[in-house]
Amino acid sequence: MSRQFYITTPIYYVNAEPHLGHAYTTIIADVLNRFYKLYGSETFFLTGTDEHGDKIIAAAQKYHQTPKEYVDRISLLFQKLWPKLNISNNYFIRTTDEKHQETVRLILNRVKNNGDIYFSEYEGLYCFGCERFFTERELVDGKCPDHMTKPEVIKESNYFFRMSKYQDWLINHINEHPDFIRPERYKNEVLSFLKEPLEDLCISRPKSRLTWGITLPFDDNFVTYVWFDALINYISALGYPDGEMFHKSWPSAQHIIAKDILKPHGIYWPCMLKSAGIEPYRHLNVHGYWNINQGKMSKSIGNVVKPLDLVDIYGLDAFRYFLLRDMVFGLDSEFSEDALVHRINADLANDLGNLVSRSLTMAQKYFKGELPEPAQPESADEELKNDSLELIDSYNALMKELEFHKALMSVWNVIGKVNKYIDSMAPWTLAESDMERLKTVIFYIIEPLKIISVLLWPFMPGSAEKIQEQLGLPKKGEEYRLKDLHLWGNERPVRTMQKGKSLFPRVKTKKKGFPDKQGKKDKTAEEKRRLISFKEFQKMDIRVGTIKKAEAIPGSKKLFRLTVDTGKESTVVSGLKGHYTEDELTGKQALVVTNLEPVKLMGIESQGMVLAAKDGSGLHLLSPDSVVSPGSPVK
Ligand code: MSP
Repeated sequence: MSRQFYITTPIYYVNAEPHLGHAYTTIIADVLNRFYKLYGSETFFLTGTDEHGDKIIAAAQKYHQTPKEYVDRISLLFQKLWPKLNISNNYFIRTTDEKHQETVRLILNRVKNNGDIYFSEYEGLYCFGCERFFTERELVDGKCPDHMTKPEVIKESNYFFRMSKYQDWLINHINEHPDFIRPERYKNEVLSFLKEPLEDLCISRPKSRLTWGITLPFDDNFVTYVWFDALINYISALGYPDGEMFHKSWPSAQHIIAKDILKPHGIYWPCMLKSAGIEPYRHLNVHGYWNINQGKMSKSIGNVVKPLDLVDIYGLDAFRYFLLRDMVFGLDSEFSEDALVHRINADLANDLGNLVSRSLTMAQKYFKGELPEPAQPESADEELKNDSLELIDSYNALMKELEFHKALMSVWNVIGKVNKYIDSMAPWTLAESDMERLKTVIFYIIEPLKIISVLLWPFMPGSAEKIQEQLGLPKKGEEYRLKDLHLWGNERPVRTMQKGKSLFPRVKTKKKGFPDKQGKKDKTAEEKRRLISFKEFQKMDIRVGTIKKAEAIPGSKKLFRLTVDTGKESTVVSGLKGHYTEDELTGKQALVVTNLEPVKLMGIESQGMVLAAKDGSGLHLLSPDSVVSPGSPVK
């Protein structure tokens, strides 16, 4: 196994805010990155945003922003989210970075000089949602299977990448490297696709149709097709062609994606690399979808779960644990808040939380938090020791095969064994009868806890470090190495053991009210109390307003004075400062409650209220999705 480990996530489109699906992929990459640190590899972890293409233009127009303003804003949402999910990426790449664009031009020139790019007229079926041409046989009932829309016939002259030339090479490469694409079902999917003749790839878009992209280095009238641009991020981030990181890390590259983007990663990308004279990546790791009510979670369907909503309620590590424990890597999974609550209560609060808490209570009570010296072990002690040491190896093997749920199950198996050992040894009885034996028993309870804390660190870094802290261990988190864990009892605590606050408090009721598996809303008592009648709702007069002017109110950290046209001119004092600038607000449309009793804020009379959505990343103005006449009522 190489000492290097390079892991990437897809670079996410900025036409939508991050949701649970993006969080899942990025957390997997983080878990693997942390695992390989424990393994002793030198790791590099890349994520980023994909910022060119038709979709961006449309999204920017919707917000009355320039494409650049728009991509800066949404990319920042991703950049701000990842630290909140404890994501340990080394670099964040954006396809609008000048360095990346330079690398794209370099690869285009290289591929062209190899004779693999030609100019030709093409008429094809184009899906604007996917930003690519479709062949007839890829369509389902004549529609794009992802967007369920009919592609449009487009005829234009374009540049093409001679992908067909690499078909045989790719088939051989996949056959010779059976774990090139994994799990196997996705390797088979790619191979089955490659049974038909591979068509060349259209890699340009005429500027008459699209300007937001990287201009082709050999023809000013065209920009680069987004996928040809985006895939190159995986090497431009490493400083290709001369960067030291590239030479060091690229041979160990592993990509993580969901099955939606298997074709560009499993087919286009290896062919592009081959043509440019670069070795293919090592593994393409493909996972399934998080579904809600049997459908893929996606912005266009409007059923997205925002990661921070869950993290705020249930805690980050519970959220990370749930995602990795509940999905079998490679298969789809149905998101359910009930299942999340169940996992927290059963696995985290009961099994793990209780084990840590009762073990430390006993260590404190019987030995003032000092780790006692064990005497000669008995067979039950040896058995627990063997189970704990075997766990390190099985965990190791499962993690390398991306069997995260099984790796966690194997840890929980040992958690169960330590809990049983405590029950059958009954230290509380030994405390009255046999202090010598009690020393050995407490020692044999604490030692597996250390192993468990290290193995859980990739999944739940914060909680694992808390356990290590409570155990008084000399090292923390990434300072551990898996191989050292085999040295049972070689490491003494440097501080006395000290029980801390409960790691995973029990959740009494499901709080968020996401649809459960049957798609029914679970109405908690709290939700019922908050219901209002339709009559009450009708009293509210909400109208579309155009913000004519936004002025910061001197002396206030949060407030703007807005002059809003809601059919008549009114003044609204609004707490949007820090979330928008004056310029960003001016000209925007927003929903305004116009029949609130006026109130004075900072000496200014506010005659209404602007509606905004609030999430972990801040406030987001609610606007109609196309411009409407100011004063239009909201129905
Ligand atoms: N920009 C391209 C990727 C270019 S990579 C060179 C793209 N972006 S995306 O924003 O649409 O992200 C797709 C990825 O987000 C999926 O491959 C997956 O990693 C993640 N997911 C989005 N929705 C998901 C689910 N519902 N479930 C699981 N993962 C999901 O495609």
